[in-house]
Amino acid sequence: MIHEIKNSIIKHKLAQLRRKETPPQDFRALVEDIAALLTYEVGKNFETQTIEIETPIQSCRAEFLNEKNFVVVPILRAGLTMAEGALKILPKASTGHVGLYRDEKTFKPVKYYFKMPPRLDEKILLVVDPMLATGGSASAAIQILKDRGAKKIFFLCIISAPRGIEKISSDHPDIEIYTASIDDGLNDKCYIVPGLGDAGDRIFATD
Ligand code: PRP
Ligand code: URA
Repeated sequence: MIHEIKNSIIKHKLAQLRRKETPPQDFRALVEDIAALLTYEVGKNFETQTIEIETPIQSCRAEFLNEKNFVVVPILRAGLTMAEGALKILPKASTGHVGLYRDEKTFKPVKYYFKMPPRLDEKILLVVDPMLATGGSASAAIQILKDRGAKKIFFLCIISAPRGIEKISSDHPDIEIYTASIDDGLNDKCYIVPGLGDAGDRIFATD
């Protein structure tokens, strides 16, 4: 299921992110902000526990999240900056890393790193990557996590293409995708159109 978040603040930040003049330091800050706003949107799904607490005035019942139940999972490299934004909202969450890059000729994902906290089956995972293009990287990351026992996974991306959404929906129909924009499509190099270019290169100034 896809949720395209229609929010004027996200639209405003995404417009700045897309501009080719936006320098890496601003680009990173915008990615963090949008990731935090998407995490806030996903948070509408989370169950809370009600606990009796004392305010300075009187006791009351208040709702808490078990923050330690959450794992933020950036897909390296570009997901790292999104993870910073998600962790601003859920600072006690763990972080797990999946290293994947897209082969430049085949556009297929290549795995090079994996490190997760234990007991993934008991956790809620927020997989983050700014770009969902062909969907190869996200689908592979989700499959690797499911193979390690993960049961509850949300996928957060800033820009998605219809082809990537179709791939996730067909490979992983149980996954909910949260995105700031569904763009028009892909060009012949499998870059999202209009997109924002290469997210990793723009974040890390490697272009
Ligand atoms: C980008 C992006 C995604 C992937 C999306 O990463 O951050 O992980 O491409 O493309 P897909 O949906 O077609 O798989 P890239 O492979 O450029 O690696 P990087 O983050 O290391 O730059
Ligand atoms: N990866 C990116 O960084 N940008 C795209 O448009 C597609 C894949």
